[in-house]
Amino acid sequence: MLVVHTKQEFAEQVAEWRRDDGHVALVPTMGNLHAGHLSLVELAREHAEHVVVSIFVNPTQFGAGEDFDEYPRTLERDTRRLKTTAADLIFAPAVDTVYPFGIDNATTVSVPGLTENFCGASRPGHFDGVTTVVARLFGLVQPDVAVFGQKDYQQQLVIRRMAEDMNMPVSIITGETIREDDGLALSSRNSYLDEEQRARAPALYEALTSVGHDLQNGRRNFSELESAAERRLSAAGLDVDYFAIRRAQDLAIPNRDCDELVVLAAAQLGETRLIDNIVITV
Ligand code: PAF
Repeated sequence: MLVVHTKQEFAEQVAEWRRDDGHVALVPTMGNLHAGHLSLVELAREHAEHVVVSIFVNPTQFGAGEDFDEYPRTLERDTRRLKTTAADLIFAPAVDTVYPFGIDNATTVSVPGLTENFCGASRPGHFDGVTTVVARLFGLVQPDVAVFGQKDYQQQLVIRRMAEDMNMPVSIITGETIREDDGLALSSRNSYLDEEQRARAPALYEALTSVGHDLQNGRRNFSELESAAERRLSAAGLDVDYFAIRRAQDLAIPNRDCDELVVLAAAQLGETRLIDNIVITV
């Protein structure tokens, strides 16, 4: 497996793959990889002969006071882990490779509507940073397929919309959320939790699945279910940012007949922001 940092090294390798008509899948990451990322790599391999994992802690998607400086940079450990997977190449560009005119002069990509609520409301500018960097990575890598995790449900919807709206020649694939045995969704940020917080964290998934069962059992009093789940999470010591039942395809408020729902939640546990979701097909 190769590790490349520059645009030129990367282009040389991809040109060789393309000569053999090989398809390229991209798994964009910010590193500090866990089993959830590794499962996306295996999924990517099912869709293309060559798998590129990008590792880039993107400054433009972190707000003021967020954890950009503390975000774990673990390229050596990530490389060791990826060697055990189907990944062919790690692309770990420098900031000026991704933003050649500098961050303040960068052309940005912004998806309206879908980014206004939930994580978009709580983290202003976050999704503009995500779409801007993903569009740039698509430009650099030119993948046939790109794989994102369902854990960031709103993010994968926003990226799908961007790719469709901009006619980007890439298929977006979403890989399932991988969980600890107690249900906590794997996340690079789980390493911030202390022992006591870690013990409380599974409450988020428990609240989601409990609402999921209620929906499967025909309950449609969405706002009552949301409020009850918020109370349950507060009682478990989580500071709820949002808990919402929405139409899975576009996060619109669902009507009673909607048969594909997503239950999305975000909560703060100490300094750590947890997000999770489940999709319910009724
Ligand atoms: O989900 C992430 O890790 C990031 O938002 C992404 C998609 C790699 C863009 O920086």
